[in-house]
Amino acid sequence: MNKEQGRPVDRVSLVEMGPRDGLQNELHILPLAQRLELIARLAESGLQRIEVGAFVSPKRVPQMADSGALLAALPRRAEPGHQRVRYGALVPNLQGLKAAISAQVDEIGLFTACSDGFTRANIGIGVEESLVRFAPLVAEARSLGIRVRGYLSTVIACPYEGPTRPKRVAALAERLLDLGCHEISLGDTIGVGTPGTVAPMLDAVLHEVPAGRLAVHFHDTYGQGLANLLPALERGIRTIDCSVAGLGGCPYAPGASGNVASEEVVYLLHGLGMSTGVNLDTLAATGQWVSEQLGRANGSRVGQALHAKALARQRTTKDEIPQGACHGP
Ligand code: HMG
Ligand code: MG
Repeated sequence: MNKEQGRPVDRVSLVEMGPRDGLQNELHILPLAQRLELIARLAESGLQRIEVGAFVSPKRVPQMADSGALLAALPRRAEPGHQRVRYGALVPNLQGLKAAISAQVDEIGLFTACSDGFTRANIGIGVEESLVRFAPLVAEARSLGIRVRGYLSTVIACPYEGPTRPKRVAALAERLLDLGCHEISLGDTIGVGTPGTVAPMLDAVLHEVPAGRLAVHFHDTYGQGLANLLPALERGIRTIDCSVAGLGGCPYAPGASGNVASEEVVYLLHGLGMSTGVNLDTLAATGQWVSEQLGRANGSRVGQALHAKALARQRTTKDEIPQGACHGP
């Protein structure tokens, strides 16, 4: 906790997924210049951790094909008065790690799951094999001072194998931690969880892994993403993955929608008196902007509301305010 005006401030760290999880499933591939602008706008809103790409097969995920060029073009120095942004990228194997190292990534995300069905569909190997593969990758990355995040998918259920047992999630999260991951991101990949299933899963994991080493990664397929954050916050978890405008999904989890929208998360956390360091208006304008670039509806309700308010403000400054006009909050 840090202090603001003499009161302790409960700080939550957001990990922005829009440029990676958000864009990896979009039919419309955003050109490099627009992806760079998206990342610049996200950083401008105050986000300090942004997952910007993935060093995976371009045949499997063409949307992430130029992640190396993207990282090479990103600004690396902090603007005066602003903190430096940490850029992350997914890495599935040694080939990906080498590319990520050359691109001078700040953090890599290794990714496996609780179920063999999803892991095989996603990276072509089973869970056990993935952990064997990761061990030397973690060691290599850490020896170079690169932070390693471990993603654990299908923590509530797998699209191929059904529900996941909380004890399995706990055991795998502990193994990722033991491998040397600094943080474990728990993914409800298909967004089927509710607080009723998320809470017991978190309780099991927290027996093995401290809250300070956990992040939650909720997809919002069934509209439960925000509700699912509450049991995580109640249990002391202070790192949340989210995606601007609710962009995204996973190509290997059919029908799954994007992460819980960043705008919703910031609105919720500020409403709870927690601090994020993010300017909600700038973030919401970014969500509206990227939705327009992609030619899709803005997937954030908060984003839609703030956009409508901004349009109304523009109209009232242009035109005379009509008598009896209604001004919402
Ligand atoms: P594979 O076919 O088993 O690999 O793919 P391979 O070693 O047999 O190589 C086949 C070809 O892929 C070769 O090229 C390799 O060079 C190339 P070819 O000779 O045919 O021209 N290749 C690579 N190219 C670029 N970068 C690499 C790489 N590795 C091999 N790193 C592989 C294995 C993992 C690469 C493949 O299955 C893959 O790329 N999968 C994509 C996985 C992915 O990106 N999924 C979405 C992200 S995960 C997610 O969204 C979940 C998460 O958000 C959490 C949650 O929501 O729960 C993280
Ligand atoms: Mg995801």
